[in-house]
Amino acid sequence: MAETKKLMRALAGEVMDVPPVWMMRQAGRYLPEYRATRAQAGDFLSLCYNPDLAAEVTLQPIRRYGFDAAILFADILLLPQALGADLWFVTGEGPRLSTITSMNEFNALKGVGDIDEVLSPIYETVRILARELPAETTLIGFAGAPWTVATYMIAGRGTKDQGPAHKLMAENPAVFDALIDLITKGTIEYLSKQIEAGAEVVKIFDSWAGSLKGEAFTRYALEPAKEIITALKARHPNVPVIAFPREAGDKYIGFARATGADCVALDNSVSADWAATNVQVDGCVQGNLAPDHMVTGGQALTLETKRIVKAFSKGPHIFNLGHGITPDANPDNVQIMIDAIRG
Ligand code: CP3
Repeated sequence: MAETKKLMRALAGEVMDVPPVWMMRQAGRYLPEYRATRAQAGDFLSLCYNPDLAAEVTLQPIRRYGFDAAILFADILLLPQALGADLWFVTGEGPRLSTITSMNEFNALKGVGDIDEVLSPIYETVRILARELPAETTLIGFAGAPWTVATYMIAGRGTKDQGPAHKLMAENPAVFDALIDLITKGTIEYLSKQIEAGAEVVKIFDSWAGSLKGEAFTRYALEPAKEIITALKARHPNVPVIAFPREAGDKYIGFARATGADCVALDNSVSADWAATNVQVDGCVQGNLAPDHMVTGGQALTLETKRIVKAFSKGPHIFNLGHGITPDANPDNVQIMIDAIRG
């Protein structure tokens, strides 16, 4: 049967007059229905591990806006938890984890074979979504990239410059490399299981790729992505992969070709015109409206949305924001963006 889902067609390289659209963090605190379900779950992690409620919040933005894709509701830090790290969220501040800074701490982590014990509710969420999503909506699974996940596991929290991870890389490369390798292998397993449960596409979030420079970018952003994608393609050759090496700048050039990704997601620090010339030449790109427009709205939102659609109109494109929508966004602005895309 010919592929009818718009997101899958763009990932296969088809150029469309109206690009498919979804948003990072589309299930999130800017939506009153999300806040209500999260309150029902109690806290964020309880929501992630409750398949019925996680599926419900995944479906909410699909019902409200009719996005072309739904992204599994979960978090990139569930894998570290499944590997044995302690994980909790401090309201208003963000995630906290037990830290990994020595070989002893690394050796206390669990193996890749153990992760399903914690992560099986996530696969159940995927199974529910595969049943309940509208026929035209693509289901996206995801995981964090090894470098980004490692920055949280090493520092025990989000950091502005990823200093603790860079320090461990320099001072104790044996521990650092072992950790990157464990996360890489765990991610292959985790994403394979999401695919087996019904994810049609997977996305790898490397939110802190931009702080890796020169050889370190190749070794810790590009090579792990390539290892994960190669392994996934061997097991599931028809499942497209979106890679998001955020703030990679000119290292976006050739990233899809070098890693085997079917699509590269662009943050909004690169211009759409530049990316159309330098990145879209290799295939599908996703992006890259600045999330601030979802807060500020107005004519600038419509104009900028149309400008991005036009800049990418000569090649395969999936419309998205350059990063996640923020809690202070106005839900009406999302509809304005969609109307500007779909006309
Ligand atoms: O995009 C989606 O809607 C899918 C679900 C998703 C979440 N987090 C839900 C979430 C995805 C894909 C992520 C990825 C994620 N998580 C990343 C990489 C992408 C990025 O944004 O750069 C990172 C670095 C994390 C780790 C994380 N999770 C942080 C730093 C925080 C706290 C920041 C904040 O906004 O409070 C989270 C919490 C989180 N993950 C929320 C959501 C909806 C907010 C939790 C809440 O309801 O309070």
